[in-house]
Amino acid sequence: MPADFEAMWRDLAPVGRSASSGGYFRQPFTTAERELDVWFTEQCKARGLEVERDRFGNTVAWWRPAGAAGPAVLTGSHLDSVLDGGAYDGPLGVVTALAAVDVLRDRGVTPARPVGVGVFVEEEGSRFGLACLGSRLATGATDWAIARTLTDRAGVAVEDALAEVARGDADLLRDVGCFVELHVEQGRDLVDRDVAVGAASAIWPHGRYRFDFTGEANHAGTTRMEDRRDPMLTYAMTVLAANEQARLAGQRATFGRVDVRPNGTNAVPSAVTAWLDARAETPEHLDALLADVERVAQERAGLDRTGLVVTPESVSGAVHFDADLTRRIAEPHGWPVIPTMAGHDAGVLSAAGIPTAMLFVRNPTGVSHSPDEHAETADCLAGVEALADTLAGLAT
Ligand code: GLV
Ligand code: MN
Ligand code: MN
Repeated sequence: MPADFEAMWRDLAPVGRSASSGGYFRQPFTTAERELDVWFTEQCKARGLEVERDRFGNTVAWWRPAGAAGPAVLTGSHLDSVLDGGAYDGPLGVVTALAAVDVLRDRGVTPARPVGVGVFVEEEGSRFGLACLGSRLATGATDWAIARTLTDRAGVAVEDALAEVARGDADLLRDVGCFVELHVEQGRDLVDRDVAVGAASAIWPHGRYRFDFTGEANHAGTTRMEDRRDPMLTYAMTVLAANEQARLAGQRATFGRVDVRPNGTNAVPSAVTAWLDARAETPEHLDALLADVERVAQERAGLDRTGLVVTPESVSGAVHFDADLTRRIAEPHGWPVIPTMAGHDAGVLSAAGIPTAMLFVRNPTGVSHSPDEHAETADCLAGVEALADTLAGLAT
């Protein structure tokens, strides 16, 4: 008998969890994430679902009762996390999907269409830098020729990491007629509305941009302040500029990752590489925000006699989820339909032309990408019921 939601959630709780922070380190193709992959496969087999894999490490488990035919209904999410992330971002959509299959079976529902539970790899881009890597490859939004050479911080290439994991050669999306991803909310909209479940209208366009600042390494004591070419100074001013420009424009800008060389206390650094995460309401606002930050940074680099090169590493366009599908799902239950500033595999599938919708489960503090991310069990169970209702509506 397959486990229920709470039992499955308990199974996952220790996997990849840091004893010091309580957060999760489930980077793609590492021991922790592979343990989740094995767990997922076992859960699917216990339910008699047919597990298919593609060559990029993505997996879909099919519930295909005799007679089920026509375009499939796909649900699911991802099992990887950001560095020191929360438990819910990703796994909630996978575990609720398995639990929703159980609920439908308990209700005696037999889908007329195949129902798939999918897991896409490297959604967070925390290892190889490209967000939604697995779904981008599955949809063809990113070419393998480009993705295979991306490297992690230790220099391991995607193709070498993938060579170590179980793969197949399925085209997982070939029969997919629609996709519904359930996700923990990453804001407080549902809290403010006092509802446990909502649906998504759209995703803000967003991107990650590498800022390479270069200067001159020199002695921290003997180099006069006015003689320095200090890339750390240009970087620091750029962080302030990004924050100011985003505030002025009503958008979002974050420097959350920085790499300093040689990273010594008593030397002016030779180089600083930092990554800007920028998000905006429209593509035009995003372009303008990036241009403003880069302009101020280049002006500062001129004053500091440092160099700056900006390289886009992962850019995701605006997504508007399928309005008919979303209405059909949300209206009968009165679920609010709200936008999000976070990226999702659902955005990639939507951009690829697959009618797509998302469900959100309330997050009491709105905190996400942090060990403090949370959802109450009762709300997760409401999510299971919501997803089961949704799948029943779409697949029968
Ligand atoms: C994905 O979680 C993102 O960075 O928006
Ligand atoms: Mn996610
Ligand atoms: Mn995330």
